[in-house]
Order: sequence, then structure tokens, then C-alpha cells
Amino acid sequence: MEFPLLLSIQRQALDRIQQEFAIGPDNVQTIIRGMHRSMEQGLAKPGQTLAMLPSFIVNGADGIEKGKCLALDLGGTNFRVCQINLKGVPGEYRMVQKKYLIPQTLKTAPATELFGFIADGIHDFLRENGENDAEEHTFGSSTKGKNVRTISLGFTFSFPVRQKALNHGELTQWNKGFTCSGAVGHNVPDLLQRALQARNINAEVTALLNDTVGALTACSYRYPGTLLGVILGTGSNVAYMEKISRIPKFLEEQPHLLNTPAAEQDMGINMEWGSFDNEGDVVPSNQYDQLLDDNSPNQKNQMFEKRISGLYLGELFRLVILDLIRRQLLFSGKVTTALETPYLLDSSLVSAIVDDSTPKAQGLHPKVRVKLITQLELDENNVSDADLSLARGVACAIATRSARLAGTGLSAVLLRRQDRLAVATPDDPITIGIDGSLYEHFTTFREVMIQTLTSVIGEENFAKLRIVLAKDGSGVGAAVAATMNSELPTL
Ligand code: GLC
Repeated sequence: MEFPLLLSIQRQALDRIQQEFAIGPDNVQTIIRGMHRSMEQGLAKPGQTLAMLPSFIVNGADGIEKGKCLALDLGGTNFRVCQINLKGVPGEYRMVQKKYLIPQTLKTAPATELFGFIADGIHDFLRENGENDAEEHTFGSSTKGKNVRTISLGFTFSFPVRQKALNHGELTQWNKGFTCSGAVGHNVPDLLQRALQARNINAEVTALLNDTVGALTACSYRYPGTLLGVILGTGSNVAYMEKISRIPKFLEEQPHLLNTPAAEQDMGINMEWGSFDNEGDVVPSNQYDQLLDDNSPNQKNQMFEKRISGLYLGELFRLVILDLIRRQLLFSGKVTTALETPYLLDSSLVSAIVDDSTPKAQGLHPKVRVKLITQLELDENNVSDADLSLARGVACAIATRSARLAGTGLSAVLLRRQDRLAVATPDDPITIGIDGSLYEHFTTFREVMIQTLTSVIGEENFAKLRIVLAKDGSGVGAAVAATMNSELPTL
């Protein structure tokens, strides 16, 4: 029996929840077909559900990129400023970095305030880490003819951007709780550049990239030819290398590439897979997904991400637990203030519960029990072992769905590059770089995702993959992009 401590009425409730969150083999196949269709559509025309955004990174890195530059990483809770010295030897670099917390209020303030705050952070970082030193080693800057040497800055900006060049990209929409006015439709490097100029900071934004493209590029600095960059953290998204000849919308804008050898090169595509199936045609949806979406600032958007990523796992858990309490099936029917606070719980609670290896017949490990009780502000007297078991079952159902969806999506992307799978071997594998807390710190998630991937593509193909943790991918990727010579003019 899966959760032996449950009362029979709780068991029935859990059975239903497990069904609501289930992703069966049929769903997996339907999702893969749906994703392939959406990928085609997004590559053909702008403005489709899957944005499939060209990154202007061609062929990835070679591993010989060299030089010192700044990298800025903005994506969720924090922003990071890094000074990175690429050694020109595959995977080798030195890095100094500092993280700055973004105050909640700035996520909804005008963009000038957000970028002003970021530029202040860069100023602070350069003061602490030696601006002069940074200038001495200037590399790859485009300040020819100017007297002042300017340091290149690679900017990893983890939102959907319609790129027109490596250093030019317009924000198409915010997500992950950001709504700053004056940014959508604007060139993001300009917004930062203006804030830098206002503070007399001598840095030039020479590359703008998504975090998935950062992971892809950073990995290709270590393993040239890397195929996928994946983020499984607060948000979720994938970038992969696509043959330019298979990106009709890009060729339309660059007709001189048609039928040339250049079109046979690969370009990084930021899929923005968080938006996959916004229409709700292929991924099963339940009452809790509906509730979460109804109360979100970006309704009917990022629907795939809302079932997968860390930002939403804790919220889904809260919504299900609240429902069970209201139905008198949990915690003596007592709702707490914490449970009524949207987004109070993050994925670390869900992962602690799901990764708990205590036998299911014994409830939860005492430490995890305390974490649950504290975060949910529960009264000890209202918490039975059966309740803990039910909460555990709920967390497992939510996390399993998330991991199965991630594994299914990754399979779809890999299968799109059958040509690469066909020539890869265990000794010359396809590299996939993955970054983000779900992958790094959530063991069960990682295992279920890999199981799903293996069951779809088969053991033999799985053996041809090298999956690496792309830690620091956003920083290193931005630095590599800022120094590498792969802008389109070289095509
Ligand atoms: C969101 C953003 C996407 C980013 C992902 C992971 O889905 O739209 O650009 O890559 O979060 O940070």
C-alpha cells in the first residue's frame, strides 16, 4: 500500500489528486507531437505560442574564447554581477561575483528604476573588485577610436526577447512576477546602457542572451557542439541548436543566407517553452492549475512553466492543501494565515517532503515534519501522522507531474534533432547543460525526469547523452558570448 497511514477518506481524496496530476504514456506521446508542431510553427512565423527566438549565437563556443569581461545575470529573485576571465582553454575561467537581492517593489516599478538599481549594483561591484583592473584587461570591446577603454558586458536576461542582433533585443513580455513599465517593446541593452551611462560606468553591453542560451554557450565553452541549454529553476525553459536552414522566419529576414553553406550552421534558439500549450490542447489541466492561473498576473500565459517550475510548485501545493483542509480532510480543518498567503511556500518545501526517504509507513522525517509545520504555521495538535502522509502524497503527485513534463519536453527537443542523435555515440555524446535548483537540489525530480527521458528515447539513445550541471551557466555563458566572434556578420 502506497501511503499506509491514510484514513480511507483521505486515501480516496489522494487517489483523485494523483489522477488529476497524472501524466500517462498517452499524454507523453500527445505532448511530444504537440511540441513538434508548435516548434515548427514558431520557427516559421513570429508571434506563435512557442516563440522559438533566434539568439544570434552561431555554432556555440569553441572553447578557445579568451579575455576578461563583465557578466550580468538578471532572471528572478536576484541579480548577479560577475567579472570573468576566460582562459581560452576549454571550460577554464576565473570568476569574482556578487549577488544582489531585487526588492519585491522594484519588480513592479518603472523599468528605469529597476535598471538604475542594477547599475548601482554594478557600480558597487566595480568599486569593490577594482574597476581599473577590469579596464586594463579590456577585451572584445567595440570602442574603436575612443580614448577611454570600455569593458564588454554580457547580459543574461531571462525573459522573452525578440533579438535583432547579438547586442540588440526587445522584450516581448514580462513574467515570473515582473511587470515593470517602459520595458516591453524596448531594446533591453539600451535600458541598461542608459543607466550605466548616467553613473559614468565604463561598460558596453556587447551581448544579450537568455539564461538557457547562457547555459548552452557556457557548456559549449567546455564541450563544443553542446546541443541543449536547459533551465529548471524558478522558471523553466530550453534553448537548443537548430540548423539555420530550418528557421524559415530567420531566413526571411536574412535572405542572403538562403541556400548558402552558412545556412547549414546551427543557431541557438530560445524556445520559451514555458508558453507551450497556452491554449490547453495537449497538457492535462486540473482545478488547481485553473485556480493558480486565474490568480496570476499573466493569465493563460506560461502554462507549461506553471506546471513545471519552482515558482509554482509551492503554490500548487498550497492550493491543494488549502482545498483539503476546507474539505475537513486535513489538519483538523484549520486554515492558517500562511496557507492563505499566495506564493508563501517555495519549491524547497515540496522537494524536502518528496526527497524524504523515511518509509511511507512512518510519516515524515522529524526535520521535514518541523519544516512543514513551521512553514504552514500549523498547530501541532492538529497534525496527525495520517495528515503528514496525505501532505506527502500531494507533494509527490505535484512534483512527479512536473518532472514527467520536463522529461517529456526534453525528449521532444532531442527527437527534433534526430540527425544529431543518429551520429552521436557514447564516446562522442550529445551534451546537454542543465541549470536550476530543481535539477541541482531536487533528487527525485531529477530521477523521474531522467526516467521519463530514457523511456521515450530508449536506453541506447540515452547512453549517447552527456548531461552536465551548467552551474554558473548564465554568468559564464554571458562572458563567452561577449567575447566570442559569432555575430551574424561573420556568416
Ligand atoms: C521564463 C522566461 C525565460 C527564462 C525562464 C527561466 O520562462 O520567460 O526567458 O529562460 O523563465 O529563467
